[in-house]
Amino acid sequence: MFSKPVSDKTPQFTESVIREMTRQAVRHGAVNLSQGYPDFPAPEILKQAAADAIFRDVNQYAITWGAKNFREALAGKTRRFLGIEVDPETEVTVCCGSTEGMIDVLLAVINPGDEVIVFEPFYENYGPDAVISGATPRYVTLHRPDWHFDESELARAFNNKTKAIIINTPNNPTGKVFSREELETIARLCQKWDVLAITDEIYEHLVFDGAEHVSMITLDGMRDRTAVVNGLSKTYSVTGWRVGYVIAEARVTDSVRKVHDFLTVGAPAPLQEAGVVAMGLADSYYAELAEAYRIRRDRMVEMLEAAGFDCLMPQGAYYVMTDISRWGYPDDVAFARFLLEDVGVAAVPGSSFFFDRTRGRDLLRFTFCKKAETLQLAADRLGKMKGATGGS
Ligand SMILES: Cc1ncc(COP(=O)(O)O)c(C=O)c1O
Repeated sequence: MFSKPVSDKTPQFTESVIREMTRQAVRHGAVNLSQGYPDFPAPEILKQAAADAIFRDVNQYAITWGAKNFREALAGKTRRFLGIEVDPETEVTVCCGSTEGMIDVLLAVINPGDEVIVFEPFYENYGPDAVISGATPRYVTLHRPDWHFDESELARAFNNKTKAIIINTPNNPTGKVFSREELETIARLCQKWDVLAITDEIYEHLVFDGAEHVSMITLDGMRDRTAVVNGLSKTYSVTGWRVGYVIAEARVTDSVRKVHDFLTVGAPAPLQEAGVVAMGLADSYYAELAEAYRIRRDRMVEMLEAAGFDCLMPQGAYYVMTDISRWGYPDDVAFARFLLEDVGVAAVPGSSFFFDRTRGRDLLRFTFCKKAETLQLAADRLGKMKGATGGS
């Protein structure tokens, strides 16, 4: 039997709690409000485009860094929504989901000893991403109830070793949409300390109540010090397609493309063809998407509040963070287990979004990217638990 130790890196992180909750939901027959994937169909036109591409025999490797027509379409969408020109030949890399895009960028820029600033709570991948890339993470707190950061706390996290800062807006798990002023503050610090902003904008079109998605790359002085990470998963309800992309100036892109090439070679070729069609969808598609999600958000908040949860109202993305302290359970994991096994609803323990897990032990995250029937079923089940406590 092979007995030498496994990598020193993997013991530093656990399996994804979010994805584990999905497996548990299936096992217990629970309504799955944990992992962020829609249970409704992807747009017909995109499914047809993907099927057509397969039957047109677009079934071999695309160009490593992305099919030319898809990169051009991505540059077109970037011009349309962000108002900036990017060169599809030198500044766009197509990869297997934004998940790959994020680790590509980190592996492309990190050297031993480099630090990366991460806002906490954070999308759980960023912790392992830092370990895998060899970066030392520095966490900066997003404070409740509105998840603002303290400017002096942020400024203290920057130093000569800081290589990058990860910004996820609209944010998972909090639903925070970073304001232009907040991003300008971060941008000033990036310029002062010569730091790359890596922006995960996977929820860019899911903003509510008049909130505006601002991309860091559009701010003064940030065009060539921002790597935008994005993908098709959330905007087009195709999380299983695994198509994402990175936009960054040519030198960073050159390094990203090398990492990408040797990690995955390329993203699925026929699905990039469908991506070209996605990029051509009318403005009404995005408006309707955001409105449909606003309705789901309102429904979810209503049903959670009716069941006795304290919701932290999200302005973007498709999650609701709830404060569960009033239920009296010892921690978020115990409460999530009770919900899963006794109530039949799966949610994600808040601690999985924190480096210091004790900071999230009074939080639970629910996703609302689900059909009305699914939300109704969850509402029915949650409705029966009023009055239940952990007895402590
Ligand atoms: C903030 C954030 N980034 C990235 C991803 C994964 O995106 P992709 O499917 O493009 O890998 C998710 C999925 O939940 C997410 O919430």
